[in-house]
Amino acid sequence: MKFYIKTFGCQMNVSDSEKMAGILKRAGYTPAGTPEEADVVIVNTCSVRAKPDNKAYSFIGKLSALKERKPFTLAVAGCIPQKESEELIKRYPKIDLIFGTYNFHRVDKLLERLNVRKPLIEVLQERTEDENVIPEIDQITTNPYVAYVTVQRGCNRFCTYCIVPFTRGRERSVPPELVVEEVKRLADKGVKEVHLLGQNVDFYGISLEKRVDLADLLYMVSKIEGIERIRFTTSHPAGFTKKIAEAIRDLPKVCEYVHLPPQSGSNRILKMMNRGYTREEYIEKVLMLRETVPNISISGDFIVGFPSETEKDFEDTLRLVETCIFDQAFVFEYSPRPLTRAYSFKDDVSKEEKNRRLRILSELLKQQAEERNIQRLGNVEEVLIEGESPKNRTKLIGRTRDNKVVIVDGHKELIGRFVKVKIEETSPYFLKGKPENVLTGVLDD
Ligand code: SAH
Ligand code: SF4
Ligand code: F3S
Repeated sequence: MKFYIKTFGCQMNVSDSEKMAGILKRAGYTPAGTPEEADVVIVNTCSVRAKPDNKAYSFIGKLSALKERKPFTLAVAGCIPQKESEELIKRYPKIDLIFGTYNFHRVDKLLERLNVRKPLIEVLQERTEDENVIPEIDQITTNPYVAYVTVQRGCNRFCTYCIVPFTRGRERSVPPELVVEEVKRLADKGVKEVHLLGQNVDFYGISLEKRVDLADLLYMVSKIEGIERIRFTTSHPAGFTKKIAEAIRDLPKVCEYVHLPPQSGSNRILKMMNRGYTREEYIEKVLMLRETVPNISISGDFIVGFPSETEKDFEDTLRLVETCIFDQAFVFEYSPRPLTRAYSFKDDVSKEEKNRRLRILSELLKQQAEERNIQRLGNVEEVLIEGESPKNRTKLIGRTRDNKVVIVDGHKELIGRFVKVKIEETSPYFLKGKPENVLTGVLDD
């Protein structure tokens, strides 16, 4: 039996898909290269904005059409079923199995229980005991050298625009000893870089009996041999502490990179979003971070066109960006999501205006990224080579410690190794260069 998993959405979903792949392999399934070759196709969905939601629906539509031509099991998982499993079945009656974010690790058992006559729907609204007990699996990581490790699930913050607390439930942290166990297992398999994942990871530990926070966890994971780089995401400006900044400064394996989304620079909008900080507090956090870790790279997310956002609110966002300086950022047009508080606010910024603000803010962020990158011309940077460049297979692609993408001229033997690269060309989105000498790492055959 062959399986194929299509993943939409964030790194959390990518990580869940990797675990499902490991569980299915343990159960005797083998991976297929395309949905056409598979006996089981799983669509792991995202619902954070209308766009990924629509994309997942149209992918399921295509698979339903494929089912007319050949038999296979069609399963839908992830965030969409958490809010509308009935709707899914109504629109696509050919779906055989629906499950959600609380029970993805039961995928093998659910497939066994399938019955040809009736679709099986198992969507839970609360945690199950075995959520953290992911047994020994040959976890497939999308990249053999870089792996995602979920350390916190769900979210308690209820930003008014955000559906995550509804699709992933209340916050619960994975006990540190289980995180360490998983990272050790990955290190044994040759993984060099881990990303510790949580929806607001700097609140890690609030749901644990033991008094342990993200900084403590970084110290613990740092001790694991074989792991050379540690990242964590997503940070929340209200939860980011001096102690975390000091852990970045003091722990050589923890990379100088923080994703700290401001969402808006207007105090009025931040309040309506229920973000729990002001623009002044955000700026203060950035100053503290830059003072503690001078070579820190900061990225962010922004939402433009939130209900009632005026030109003046938008300009406050532009001013915040000018003050803080971002290395990378994503800008999203506000998308009303059912179940959220903001869904009842009037979505009164027109599509054209949202798009205009998106273009202006993106242009400013692009200029900042370009200027930051130009400063690195001539530098020699440590790059972990992750693989061949998908756009040009004669080149390699990797990342610096502070998460910049680097296109490298070099032989495939360098994949999986740390390489000193001399930067010879830059753009707003990546750096380009040639290897100087190979640092460390095991040469894979
Ligand atoms: N837990 C993370 C990630 C949430 S989703 C956090 O709190 O930052 C990733 C990004 O999608 C968010 O940072 C936000 O910028 C954007 N986003 C979430 N809901 C949105 C919505 N309804 N409309 C537009 N953008 C949204
Ligand atoms: Fe999408 Fe959010 Fe779910 Fe991730 S957590 S898959 S971004 S809805
Ligand atoms: Fe939580 Fe982030 Fe939303 S912190 S409520 S998921 S934007």
